Amino acid sequence: MSFAFGIGIGTQNNQGEWLEVYYPQPLITPDTELIDVAETSLDYQGGNQALSVTAEQLVQFANALRQTGQTDQARLAEQAARSTRPVVVTILATDDTASSTPEAYLKLHLLSHRLARPHSLKLDGLFGLLPNLAWTSEGAIDLNELPERQLQARLAGRTLEVRSVDKFPQMTDYVVPSGVRIADTARVRLGAYVGEGTTVMHEGFINFNAGTEGTSMVEGRISAGVVIGKGSDLGGGCSTMGTLSGGGNIIISVGENCLLGANAGIGIPLGDRCTVEAGLYITAGTKVRLLDDHNELVETVKARTLAGKDDLLFRRNSLTGAVECKTNQSAIELNDQLHANN
Ligand SMILES: CC(C)(COP(=O)(O)OP(=O)(O)OC[C@H]1O[C@@H](n2cnc3c(N)ncnc32)[C@H](O)[C@@H]1OP(=O)(O)O)[C@@H](O)C(=O)NCCC(=O)NCCS
Repeated sequence: MSFAFGIGIGTQNNQGEWLEVYYPQPLITPDTELIDVAETSLDYQGGNQALSVTAEQLVQFANALRQTGQTDQARLAEQAARSTRPVVVTILATDDTASSTPEAYLKLHLLSHRLARPHSLKLDGLFGLLPNLAWTSEGAIDLNELPERQLQARLAGRTLEVRSVDKFPQMTDYVVPSGVRIADTARVRLGAYVGEGTTVMHEGFINFNAGTEGTSMVEGRISAGVVIGKGSDLGGGCSTMGTLSGGGNIIISVGENCLLGANAGIGIPLGDRCTVEAGLYITAGTKVRLLDDHNELVETVKARTLAGKDDLLFRRNSLTGAVECKTNQSAIELNDQLHANN
């Protein structure tokens, strides 16, 4: 049983190096028959391979796929045979560390197509395989080739718009998963996992290998590796601490039906039905006063000891400045109100 498969249309630079690849219909655990056909038609020899294929090979591949009843992939292979851009067939026998740009892009597609959940894929070494590119109105361009392309565009009466200079493209140029609303598409990177029913407002951001499991209103930042549970909302400008730069190695997550208030932040994972007051940033070492239902102090603990616990309300006492934690009474009502207009 192979791990993943994709027929991709990509971009190469003047040296013939892959810059990016678009896989319209990636597959996870593809049928054995499909892989058998790739062996005979494309000379796939097993293992993890990104095969550069010619139009003739694709026609042969399409015919063989059709004979085995793989009509969707056969149709795609036929279309790809007419591509004016380079075509790659990427087959991953196992989820090993990627070793080429097409392999890295296939993994990012698996996440954004919701075929693989964040943290379920081996993504080490990914950055080294994603070239930093100009993402332009005329596609991905190698930065060394950008000045010439800008000049050529101007000479031909066009302006080449450079939308970003980054290793990751925006997700929506590759896939728009069902049931989502994204106000500013530049804020969601390829490799994000955006759950059905999620709204990402203009201030919202979702990095790769991170995302939402279902209905969520995202007006804050979901850093790499962070997963937000169903029914949870991220208020305007709030922050979830990632693990990429100095965020430590605790993987941050938010359970179901939580609310991170506007400009709040978390450096610990939250359980279900938790609320963090607007403007309060809780780091793992924050000293927290635990209060009972009569607002009496029970004990003082570090926030990391509350990681993953359910039904908590965090707030900064506006009179004393101390961070306090109480049982959360109103989480569900707040969420119902917020989701009314999703
Ligand atoms: C923390 C939060 C959830 C508390 O809301 P709440 O549970 O409705 O609490 P209330 O405002 O009704 O306050 C209850 C009591 O606690 C007190 N209180 C609330 N916050 C307090 C604070 N930070 N310090 C001291 N007392 C506080 C209130 O004064 C009130 O006191 P009372 O019983 O004497 O009247 C709310 O302030 C908050 O930050 N919500 C986030 C909203 C948000 O940002 N949404 C996203 C928009 S983009």
